[in-house]
Amino acid sequence: MKRLILSVLTALITVTGAFGINGCDKMADNTVITSQTAIISDISQQNFTIQDIYNLQDFLLARPTEEDLRDKNYDLNGDGVWNVFDLCLMKRELLLIKQKKEVGVFDMESKTVLLNSGYEMPIIGLGTYSLLDDTCINSVVAELQSGGRLIDTAYMYHNEESVGKGIKQSGVPREEMFIETKLYPNQYADAANAIDEALEKLDVDYIDLMLLHHPGTNDLEAYKAMEQAVADGKIRSIGLSNWYIEELEDFLPQITIMPALVQNEIHPYYQEIEVVPYIQSLGIVMQGWYPLGGRGYTAELLGNETINSIAEVHNVSAAQVILRWNLQRNVVVIPGSSNPDHIKENLELFDFKLSDEEMEKIKTLNRDEKHDWY
Ligand SMILES: NC(=O)c1ccc[n+]([C@@H]2O[C@H](COP(=O)([O-])OP(=O)(O)OC[C@H]3O[C@@H](n4cnc5c(N)ncnc54)[C@H](OP(=O)(O)O)[C@@H]3O)[C@@H](O)[C@H]2O)c1
Repeated sequence: MKRLILSVLTALITVTGAFGINGCDKMADNTVITSQTAIISDISQQNFTIQDIYNLQDFLLARPTEEDLRDKNYDLNGDGVWNVFDLCLMKRELLLIKQKKEVGVFDMESKTVLLNSGYEMPIIGLGTYSLLDDTCINSVVAELQSGGRLIDTAYMYHNEESVGKGIKQSGVPREEMFIETKLYPNQYADAANAIDEALEKLDVDYIDLMLLHHPGTNDLEAYKAMEQAVADGKIRSIGLSNWYIEELEDFLPQITIMPALVQNEIHPYYQEIEVVPYIQSLGIVMQGWYPLGGRGYTAELLGNETINSIAEVHNVSAAQVILRWNLQRNVVVIPGSSNPDHIKENLELFDFKLSDEEMEKIKTLNRDEKHDWY
């Protein structure tokens, strides 16, 4: 096995030589050549998998320029040895270099945002909390057939299988969509198996984004299991939900892969005015749950006078104003709905723009009023 890996590696190095990574062979200490030597010696000591080699292959074939590589420390997680995380972090760096877009900045044309993992994600999608069985399947199909490409689910919603069926029934190619799910604290102690279970229930080969639902016992171990799953190619991006400033300050120094996204409660009555810019300043994308206030609260929020007066000006609905307000704060939204007309309406957010004054008016509605306990 070791011999096979080494010969694959040698072949790869030869291939990249043929492509001619700009200037790599001329570089002295601390550059790719040194790094490749390090990889080889590391492989001889550790149980590298074929997946690691694929990660390495992606890196080598990405043909980074000398400028891209110079001064990079390839022991990216700083543990003093080359390992699988260094390879997968390197892959992320190169994806980012290739994208040439700024992380966290919303592109209203493509309706996407670039995550710090190097992957792009849609900025509007469907939340599936409380949608079960056929209702869930039909809502997922309606979202995808209306042009939406982001579906948010969670182990705790008991609908990952239905989401998987909706994905298939929609006829939309898997690679065009972005599937997000979450581990729940009762899964943290055995997160590696829980990740496999999610893949199986969703019936997909990879999950675009997996989050920890909220802080709990063994959350660090669960996060590390997600990091490993990134290295194994099972998950593309990872993040957190219901983590606020204090929790992040405690958690981030203990992990290797920076969260790509944090999903927290955000609506006009609970705006997280300090939390949102703090999280965004870390290069982490912010996503809001209960964008319309959550069931039981939507009537009051959607009936709000200020929001309705703004809606009238733009000839749109109150829901569209709230969703657009989120997008203009660079907050990804995932309104929940089982009504195909609402699902379609919630995606039509790009033909109008709120003025600075209107954004300010909505800001004044904040009451720090949480509608759930997380
Ligand atoms: N991480 C967490 O802790 C957490 C917690 C809660 C939720 N979430 C996620 O966030 C998502 C959103 O939250 P949510 O679904 O509970 O609440 P929500 O999106 O704030 O509100 C959903 C309610 O709004 C209604 N609605 C949707 N679009 C509408 C429109 N255009 N006009 C009028 N009414 C509309 C829906 O009714 P109809 O079905 O009639 O459209 C539904 O009753 C969840 O689905 C879930 O994915 C995450």
